[in-house]
Amino acid sequence: MIKKGIILAGGYGTRMSPLTKAVNKQLLPIYDKPLIFYPLSILMLAGIKNILIVVNKGQLNQFKKILQNGKRIGINISYIEQSKPRGLPDAFILGEKFIGKDKVAMVLGDNFFYGQSLTKKLKDCVKLNTGCKILVHPVVRPELYGIANIKKGKKIVSIKEKPKNSKSNLAITGLYFFDNKVIEYSKALRPSKRNELEIVDLLNKYRKKNSLRAEFLGRGGAWLDTGSMEDYYNTSIFVSSLENRQGLKIACLEEIALNYNWINRNKIKESINFYGNCNYSNYLKKLIK
Ligand code: DAU
Repeated sequence: MIKKGIILAGGYGTRMSPLTKAVNKQLLPIYDKPLIFYPLSILMLAGIKNILIVVNKGQLNQFKKILQNGKRIGINISYIEQSKPRGLPDAFILGEKFIGKDKVAMVLGDNFFYGQSLTKKLKDCVKLNTGCKILVHPVVRPELYGIANIKKGKKIVSIKEKPKNSKSNLAITGLYFFDNKVIEYSKALRPSKRNELEIVDLLNKYRKKNSLRAEFLGRGGAWLDTGSMEDYYNTSIFVSSLENRQGLKIACLEEIALNYNWINRNKIKESINFYGNCNYSNYLKKLIK
């Protein structure tokens, strides 16, 4: 069972400058919450309570101000600084001590997932014994993502980062589940032409050992990424449409923790005081009515 998770929340967010000049991208709002609430909620829904957040050097306090050590929401959050964006697998080198001898999940801080039976899928993924599991989902523009070429719905024949002419439209989403070999494999990677350790090179190491599996998110699942300004605003519109229609919040961290019995009503009251008088607090008040 995977009990530890990493959120990669560094990067310069250059595609979204000037918004990201003073504030980390993962702390910008997606409708009514900071972006990081959404990937964090994914790890929590998977049952993961031990979380390491990788942040940019100098931005630690921004994250601590909102998430603190996680106790208020029934989890354990620790942080580590990345001095510059050295690539996604750098998370496993920086996180070596945190991972220890365990397996680990990783979610990218700018990824958004939603959908029917998502929690069930996540709970299946954390049952991983050995190897690596990725989630794939079709996209219209394969040139923007890591792409998996999968034969007969099962065998992964190739993995490429942002291919120019791809036969496959299956993007590798920013949610990965790894066994402990991830540390050794990441350390053995060499920087690519763009001077980053590449997630596809790491995944290819698992693929060559026949220990990479892909799971389809499924047509009822939504995976949005907030990489460009347009995607970013579309994600906000998606959240606002659903929340205002149903009156149920997406990625309310306290609600997930309460449903999993990780916190009690008193902790919710603590959060209400922490956030102050706002819509999010009104929602929390309703939860404990
Ligand atoms: O969104 C899914 C895609 O994410 C995958 O399909 C690709 O295979 C994967 O490489 C990645 O592509 P991006 O171009 O979106 O990666 P980006 O450099 O934007 O980084 C993703 C997140 O990770 C972003 O929130 C910033 C953070 N990050 C990135 C790097 C390279 C770090 O915290 N540290 C880093 O060193």
